[in-house]
Amino acid sequence: MELLISEEKLLQRIKELAREIEEDFGRDFLVVSLLKGAFVFTADLIRSFNFPVQVDFMWVSSYGSSQESQGHIKVVKDLERDIDGLKVLLVDDILDTGYTLAEVYRLLQLKGAKEIKTCVLLDKRERRKVPFEADFIGFEVPNLFLVGYGLDWDEEGRNLRGIYAVH
Ligand code: IMP
Ligand code: MG
Repeated sequence: MELLISEEKLLQRIKELAREIEEDFGRDFLVVSLLKGAFVFTADLIRSFNFPVQVDFMWVSSYGSSQESQGHIKVVKDLERDIDGLKVLLVDDILDTGYTLAEVYRLLQLKGAKEIKTCVLLDKRERRKVPFEADFIGFEVPNLFLVGYGLDWDEEGRNLRGIYAVH
């Protein structure tokens, strides 16, 4: 494993992201965080906001067990809150093929969200299979398998403080 982004760089960039989000999206939104991968990022992101914010979680998984999602997204745990008429900041760890965020975005629209912006810590742009761009991006990363800071490799490595490439 090779260190790609240190804890220090992550925290510094997340503070900047929080400011970008406030400038662009204001202070009045619900954070919808995707389990499991985004829970560590979400914890640091929301503590970088200088205003109160509410958080809800959704757990979605792709069918099958391959490392790559294949466009079939299953809701394992749905939101607790009614989001009809709310502004939503949708937060995920990494934007890869785009299947997950494109589908969750569609589900949040169906639930009546007034406005949705998306924030991802990492963007593996060259892997995209469906056209989807996030509004706020922490880092663009190369096409390598990454672990740490919430991201797992077969459920291992989520508790690493930095982000590592697995070789
Ligand atoms: P997408 O639907 O392909 O965009 O998948 C996004 C999801 O795949 C993320 O939320 C991660 O859970 C997972 N994922 C994609 N790339 C990686 C990686 O390099 N390491 C760990 N998980 C990944
Ligand atoms: Mg995930």
